[in-house]
Amino acid sequence: MPQSYARRMDRVRPSAIRELLKHGADPALISFGGGYPDQRLFPLDDLRSVFDALLQPEQAASLQYTTSDGLPALREAIAERMTAQGTPMVADDVLILSGGQQGLDLVAKMLVDPGDTVIVEDPTFLGALIAFAPLEPTYATVRLDEHGMDTDHLAEVLAANPGVRMLYTVPDFHNPTGVTMSLERRRRLIELANEHGLVVLEDSPYRELRFDGEPVPTLKSLDTEGRVIHLSSFSKILAPGMRLGWLAASPELRERLGLLKLAADTQSGTLAMHAAASFIAGFDLDAHVERLRVAYGAKRDLMLATIDEAFPASVGRTTPEGGLFTWLTFPEGFDSARFMAEVALPEAKVAYVPGTTFFADGGHPNHARVNFSNVSDDDIVAGITRLGHHLRRELA
Ligand SMILES: Cc1ncc(COP(=O)(O)O)c(C=O)c1O
Repeated sequence: MPQSYARRMDRVRPSAIRELLKHGADPALISFGGGYPDQRLFPLDDLRSVFDALLQPEQAASLQYTTSDGLPALREAIAERMTAQGTPMVADDVLILSGGQQGLDLVAKMLVDPGDTVIVEDPTFLGALIAFAPLEPTYATVRLDEHGMDTDHLAEVLAANPGVRMLYTVPDFHNPTGVTMSLERRRRLIELANEHGLVVLEDSPYRELRFDGEPVPTLKSLDTEGRVIHLSSFSKILAPGMRLGWLAASPELRERLGLLKLAADTQSGTLAMHAAASFIAGFDLDAHVERLRVAYGAKRDLMLATIDEAFPASVGRTTPEGGLFTWLTFPEGFDSARFMAEVALPEAKVAYVPGTTFFADGGHPNHARVNFSNVSDDDIVAGITRLGHHLRRELA
């Protein structure tokens, strides 16, 4: 049956990452393409006892409908944690989400009419481009370097695009590049947002996974006019399958986002919200996050050292101070998607994500994102060494 669809479906297409997963079945393949946390680090024993306690008759309400904004105890716990970490807020500022991904959808629904310009980093998080696409935005892109979004370039982009409403940034351990925005640039970004009347969506699910260096204040904590929506998630600090995230915003924005949340899915899963709240109340989330930092930090070190040893000098990489990824820059003219299809997958048996997919306007074929959190130490060494061997031949 030939079927016609809403116009927005023209923008809803399978992503390169989905294509890549097709190759995941080859047991010899070492994939640096994913962005998963390491499931061997999930706090299974603690979560088992949390879920056991919730699935008792006297706790049956943990399977009941609850308020759309989220379980009050969880909102309270998040506000306390974020306040303790330097971003002051109260429970009322917090909206619980079904994963951080839902925040991308809701904020875009609130701010983007078809054809509106959204400012994003170049490159940016692919999941954000996927979430924004049905709203039919156009993009204005801002350069990024090792200190995050280039705010001089942002000032130019804003001058060329009057009336822009929304800016999206991943300031901490950026996906895909791993870089972190400097404090100076964060201050400048807030100044520019105030000057131009922007709403800033600060997406920071990796913030707590810092391996070294000092935390840089959140944009939300530097916000002077209630323009920053801070978005975060339990996916990388607890477990992504719980599908829990949160946003914190000014009362005016939070209220509207709450109405959109109600329309989208009524509420996030009550059991998951209870479990996260009980975990925070009864166990030590900070100690758990510390274990993750140590484990992922060691994997980061191993990956960077192996890249430095195995790759030709003409391949650049970032030095992420946290998060899950590093970003490779190959010489001009190198096509990382072609190399993956013709050499990396069939010969080296290694996958990564070709960089083009993270650029709102495509292009930039000479980059790749590589993940270190969900690859064993042996596979990091073997996969990077194999890739390096083939890159040396290719780039000789
Ligand atoms: C930058 C960024 N934002 C948001 C998300 C969404 O994560 P979740 O929906 O699991 O919270 C991710 C997941 O990888 C991400 O990397």
